[in-house]
Amino acid sequence: MSKLQHDRIHNCVCGKPLPAHSGKGRKKRFCSAACKQSQYRNRLVVKRNAKHSVRYLLNSVEQVPSLQLVLQSGGICQGEAYNVLKTFPDNCIDMVMTSPPYWALRDYGVEGQLGLENTSEEYILKLCDIFDEVKRVLKDTGSCWVNLGDTYSGSSNGSNDYREQDGLGATPLLRYKGQASRKTCPPNKSLCLIPFRFAIEMVNRGWILRNTIIWHKPNCTPKSMKDRFTDDFEYLFFFVKSKKYYFEQQFEPYTEPLNRWGGETFRNSSHKYIDIGEKKLGKFGATSMFRKGRPVRPNPLGRNKRCVWSIPTKPYPGAHFAVYPNKLCETPIKAGCPPGGIVLDPFMGSGTTCVAASQLGRRYIGIELNEEYVNLAQQRLDQAS
Ligand SMILES: C[S@@+](CC[C@H](N)C(=O)[O-])C[C@H]1O[C@@H](n2cnc3c(N)ncnc32)[C@H](O)[C@@H]1O
Repeated sequence: MSKLQHDRIHNCVCGKPLPAHSGKGRKKRFCSAACKQSQYRNRLVVKRNAKHSVRYLLNSVEQVPSLQLVLQSGGICQGEAYNVLKTFPDNCIDMVMTSPPYWALRDYGVEGQLGLENTSEEYILKLCDIFDEVKRVLKDTGSCWVNLGDTYSGSSNGSNDYREQDGLGATPLLRYKGQASRKTCPPNKSLCLIPFRFAIEMVNRGWILRNTIIWHKPNCTPKSMKDRFTDDFEYLFFFVKSKKYYFEQQFEPYTEPLNRWGGETFRNSSHKYIDIGEKKLGKFGATSMFRKGRPVRPNPLGRNKRCVWSIPTKPYPGAHFAVYPNKLCETPIKAGCPPGGIVLDPFMGSGTTCVAASQLGRRYIGIELNEEYVNLAQQRLDQAS
């Protein structure tokens, strides 16, 4: 430390000047014990408020928009998902697409984050409490799509996690040593079945599970283990709030040879091939499209989209290490959100869902706890628009 620095005059928090530091021992920072105490009390209050504070950022020049404006135009909310959602009115969101932090895998380096709970039960309860709020803000016609991966019991980081792809950012969570509770504690090396426990708790809380989609990753990283197979997929759950909901049917190309559609044979409802010439036409009867002699043509749009989606993971060059591919969001958004509607991602990360929503002509609201990721998402969104 230079002589000049020693001589610099410092003030106490109360404003009184403090004596110059002699160069020996610790520098005096407070003029009295009372001042020291008040400083620590203030810091605690700031920390507590920070934990519950919500910052709304609009995707425009507006600096401090109201929640009302964000709900109208879309934008980013910085804060803890549960606390932010608590500020939203009921039935204001058309569709939710998200990937929450997986249990015991990553440290996102911010207080209040989800995923570091000691037991999987605690994690599932906390996560589902957040989804209770999601359900409240979701319109009755809305849908909620959740990508969630599993964890291997007793491992430091044994997941089939797409986040291992680029190795950027935070380190894998090494402190996980297994669960404290015996109730659902799987033996070492077993999958913890987190996605299923989550889906069951969601359904117990009133969500309707419409599909379990397999996100197949054709380019998954090869692993060194030799006593099990390489995990090359994750789950994407498709939940709805009520029996009638918005859904735009999605199609994919037929894969089977199409000559069976040429008029010779077709399937009836019991999936048995029957001859078109036979009288026995099952439930279709003579008035149906499968009438005798009428050739059955495939739908020119393709067949109804299946539940296994093959989408390569893409390394993301930015500072976030848990980015899912834009493509994974596309089908859910097209199917679940009407054009111009609002897509919500309560665990926005680097903003992939929001980018996909905006590219597909939907508004978006992203919630994220970590300020660094909020800034990253903002940059990505600015570049995309
Ligand atoms: C799996 S990442 C989401 C990645 C995102 N799908 C993407 O493509 O960038 C989960 C994110 O949730 C954030 N997060 C963790 N706990 C949170 C909480 N309680 N409220 C809001 N965000 C949280 C983490 O900081 C992390 O960015």
